[in-house]
Amino acid sequence: MDSFVVQGGRQLTGEVSVSGSKNAALPIMAASLLSTGTTTLHRVPHLVDVNTLSRLLHELGVRATWCGQSLSLHVEREENNCAPYEHVSRMRASICVLGPLLAKRGNAVVVLPGGCNIGHRPIDLHLKGLSALGAEIDVRHGYVFAKAEKLRGTQIYLGGPFGSTVTGTCNVMSAATLAQGATTIESAACEPEVVALGEFLISMGAKIGGLGTPKIEIEGVDELTPTTWTIPPDRIEAASLMMAVAATRGRVTFANLDIDHLTAVVDLLNQMGVNVVARSQSELIIDSTQRLRSVDVASRPYPGLPTDIQAQVMALMSIASDTSTIRDFVFPDRFMHVAELERLGARIRQNGDTAFVAGVPKLSGAHVTATDLRASAALVIAGLVAEGETIIHGIEHLDRGYERFEYKLNQLGASVQRVVSQPEKRAA
Ligand code: UD1
Repeated sequence: MDSFVVQGGRQLTGEVSVSGSKNAALPIMAASLLSTGTTTLHRVPHLVDVNTLSRLLHELGVRATWCGQSLSLHVEREENNCAPYEHVSRMRASICVLGPLLAKRGNAVVVLPGGCNIGHRPIDLHLKGLSALGAEIDVRHGYVFAKAEKLRGTQIYLGGPFGSTVTGTCNVMSAATLAQGATTIESAACEPEVVALGEFLISMGAKIGGLGTPKIEIEGVDELTPTTWTIPPDRIEAASLMMAVAATRGRVTFANLDIDHLTAVVDLLNQMGVNVVARSQSELIIDSTQRLRSVDVASRPYPGLPTDIQAQVMALMSIASDTSTIRDFVFPDRFMHVAELERLGARIRQNGDTAFVAGVPKLSGAHVTATDLRASAALVIAGLVAEGETIIHGIEHLDRGYERFEYKLNQLGASVQRVVSQPEKRAA
């Protein structure tokens, strides 16, 4: 397992370009299964999660070829419809193949993704939506068996106890594109990644209205044709880097982002005393000159503050002027990073789905362990401002979702060195 050695105390300055979105790329890649032929995607980030899904798609008869940042997916065979444990257990988003397989091939067998380090993550809403479309669903031996000769359009309420579901909406919307008749999804997720998938499906010939609202309407079509599409910018990577700049009191110009997707993040940074200047729809400047101010915030479904930056915000709160609170309404147990931030000197008390963070003037470098993808970014941010050296173990989590993260930070003046782990030698 690789680790990062971060020398704290360096201000970030310069320019950085945001990569294509992981969470948009994954359901779009899965939706390539809805057509026969070659789908080409541009600005695809080179990430472990993207490779994991490519390998699963390969099992399902799809050949992936890279050319720079472009990924072509050639659907060549349609006999194997089984997504096994080996692939799905590596990445929950593999569940995104369920809807497309069912709609295009009439059946799908996908292992249950299970929980993960950010909490209990059921897929009941995915299954409820697909059942409503007429699929016969059976869960046994840890697998979802789904089949339907022809899905039928209907009205589906997809809200759950924690709000809407992003990949659940993706699965049901993808499946409904090939259903007979009209489908309405109520309480659909409004996240930009759902909109990106919907626009991709429209470019394949799907008929979809209401994207970006809680009511998505789909008129089923007989077939979809392969297309060429560009993945939108990664708003979570952008927000994570914006937080890193804010923490170090730096000044950085960001290119290739979509400001409309970052409204809640910009508002939070403004509240914390950070100057954010929009130069265009795709470019902004973060300018942080003073100690961060404390805030009280909560993560919620879009357009609220994303749960995927809750940990990074907590890192900022750790060095703010007073006590802040942060609550996670989407994943109420997503607090594994609290203990690791405490190792760096953060003062945090967690109570249920809320953390109370008493800001300290300085963090101090230590050994810490990344517990999940976004927590690892939070530890890097904390390491950038901690006194001395911070060694972050478990960087394989970060590699799942941040493209060339240390390279981008080092270009801005940080000192983040990757230590590549050597495979342990077995005793003879
Ligand atoms: C997606 C993102 C993830 C992000 C999350 C919330 C991808 C690949 N991943 O995950 O980075 O943190 O959205 O923005 O896009 N729930 C149910 N039943 C279900 C499905 C979800 O109760 O069937 C609950 C979840 O446990 C959670 C909430 O609904 O509390 C939101 O989860 P969901 O939007 O489905 O997350 P993912 O799509 O898995």
